[in-house]
Amino acid sequence: MTMAFDHLGIATTDGAALAETFAALFDAPVVHEETFDGMAVRFLGLDGGYFELLEPADDGPIARFLDRNGPGIHHAALRTDDIDAALERARDVGVDLVDEEPRAGAWGHDVAFLHPRSTGGVLVEYVQHE
Ligand code: CO
Repeated sequence: MTMAFDHLGIATTDGAALAETFAALFDAPVVHEETFDGMAVRFLGLDGGYFELLEPADDGPIARFLDRNGPGIHHAALRTDDIDAALERARDVGVDLVDEEPRAGAWGHDVAFLHPRSTGGVLVEYVQHE
């Protein structure tokens, strides 16, 4: 099983403006955007990873996150080539899971989240690209 950094998820109230800033700062163009699960999602491409900008399109989890915490880092995502094995390993390690099984995430990827109470307060996402 491979495991590598994939992206940082960032909650924002204005994804278009932040995408413009990051493009100017980091040469990180928008490589994918969609409305997914009540969010406007933009992936910005870097060498070796992405930023995933999450802007609420309705009163979903990102809107609640912004209400509680304000804008900023929401999650860190690790890419694996075997998300089922990664979840099995997390169970073996005794980590609490948000998602017991992989589910369809943004960009058509399979994703699963680990509970931040088990991972130093960091919401961790496993992601498997096609
Ligand atoms: Co993500």
